[in-house]
Amino acid sequence: MKKSLITWIGALSTSLALMSSCTSDPDSPGLEYMPDMYRSPAIEAYVDYGEVRARIDETKKVRQTALTPPQFTVPFYGTDSALVELMMPYHRAANQNMRMTHGFYGERLSAADEYTLAAMDLKNPVMLDEKTLEEGKKLYTSMCQHCHGEKGDGNGPMVTSGAYSGVPNYKEEARMKLSNGQMFYSIYYGKGMMGAHRSLLNKKEIWTLVHYVRSIQYPDYLAAGMISDSTKKN
Ligand code: HEC
Repeated sequence: MKKSLITWIGALSTSLALMSSCTSDPDSPGLEYMPDMYRSPAIEAYVDYGEVRARIDETKKVRQTALTPPQFTVPFYGTDSALVELMMPYHRAANQNMRMTHGFYGERLSAADEYTLAAMDLKNPVMLDEKTLEEGKKLYTSMCQHCHGEKGDGNGPMVTSGAYSGVPNYKEEARMKLSNGQMFYSIYYGKGMMGAHRSLLNKKEIWTLVHYVRSIQYPDYLAAGMISDSTKKN
């Protein structure tokens, strides 16, 4: 008798619990316990929900977030003073013609031919050692090789497939004579058919690539201390 009463009470409470968690609305999730666990505020980059703790600001919902930082904002690069100095904004401005060729609008542009002036920028501020070249090879393989080719002869798959042309051999005389600064300038801002890489690579990475391109041009770059116009630490 007692047992059947317990069973009966158990069955009743179970069916009550089941019934109370159901509603006739097919879209309703039913009764939710601790809804904040599965209804956490979605905070995603680039999306402004205009909501803070359930208070909605409708005006924010239509506004663009993730704004471009103010001009000349310097990102934080830690406390290593050499690295911080290296990452300071590039002192050479793009040529004003590059507004047309490379889409540089609304920024400081120079009427002077800064590419030619960059012939005087001889020193590569990144230390040259094996690790630098390894790092350079990695960057080169992922960012440059498809156009310039593994050997730097201008025959990357983009070129051999016929999709693209005009990529020079690094070993042609004019390119051998480029100063480190000119290489940097061209990779940073782009040149001719090559686009700018400044939004893809930071300054340290670009200088590392300049070392790597040199090592393609001069196979004994590292060993023979072809460092005259390049490395020497500051
Ligand atoms: C989309 C194809 C393409 C990619 C990707 C590319 N380049 Fe180029 N690169 C070119 C072309 C085309 C030129 C010739 C530009 C000219 O002189 O008109 C060039 C020229 C250069 C030069 C010679 C610049 C000068 O001043 O004469 C260097 C150095 C160079 N590239 C390095 C790189 C590095 C390093 C990367 C990878 C970060 C890279 N390029 C990625 C197409 C490319």
